[in-house]
Amino acid sequence: MQELSSGVKIKREEVGTGKAFEFASITFKNLPFMENFYYYELTDSTNERARDCETFSLILAEEQTKGRGRLNRDWISKRGGLYFSIVLPPYSLEKLTLVSALSVAEAIEHSRIKWPNDVLLFGKKFCGILGESFGDKVIVGVGINVENDVEIPNACKISSFYRISRTEVFDRVTARFGKNYLELLSGNWKELFAKYRDLCDTLGKKVRVITSEGIFEGVAEICEDGAIIVGGKKIYAGDCIHLR
Ligand code: BTN
Repeated sequence: MQELSSGVKIKREEVGTGKAFEFASITFKNLPFMENFYYYELTDSTNERARDCETFSLILAEEQTKGRGRLNRDWISKRGGLYFSIVLPPYSLEKLTLVSALSVAEAIEHSRIKWPNDVLLFGKKFCGILGESFGDKVIVGVGINVENDVEIPNACKISSFYRISRTEVFDRVTARFGKNYLELLSGNWKELFAKYRDLCDTLGKKVRVITSEGIFEGVAEICEDGAIIVGGKKIYAGDCIHLR
């Protein structure tokens, strides 16, 4: 069994060399509100580590042994992907996760969003987002398949389509997230939501949504609060399948 590594904590004002400092300097450049960066070679889940961190921290791991996905699924997290969590003060989780998906979609050319926050390239998922509340903080976990092996049907990695490094992907995504988060805090949700709708493939599609209350089918409408309306039912969480 692989041994989990203890994390390295880097504060905004610290300087140094190596992989951890490379990711830390991108974090602090693109996220002016971020105060701490934590780096793990191998951890269980960055969302789990985030629970013990201060707000305005970003936790990044090269590999996770217990990566968590939405709806109690696992998120397989082999080397070559990007796995990170952002710890923020309390805010609407729906809006934060939608804004995170928007940021990834804006960062990677030709990507599209599948409600609520999967990001796809040419119909296959390469990024998932898991928002969780814990005590007095919210945690937004982002998993991106960059050049890691992907064995799941309907999933893909960015390197199948583009020659781009993990640090470049991290740079682009955090730059977009930094801008969008500050816009969200300034009250510009309407503009952000309009951009989300433009990049969302689910809108107007015939879908099936599997929820704990049942299965709903119909043409999808997306509401400003992040819910989807299908067959007259307003749904906040579920597994969405595009039917055509
Ligand atoms: C999904 O089911 O689509 C969401 C996947 C979220 C995975 C990321 S990887 C970084 C962070 N840590 C976790 O354990 N999960 C999230």
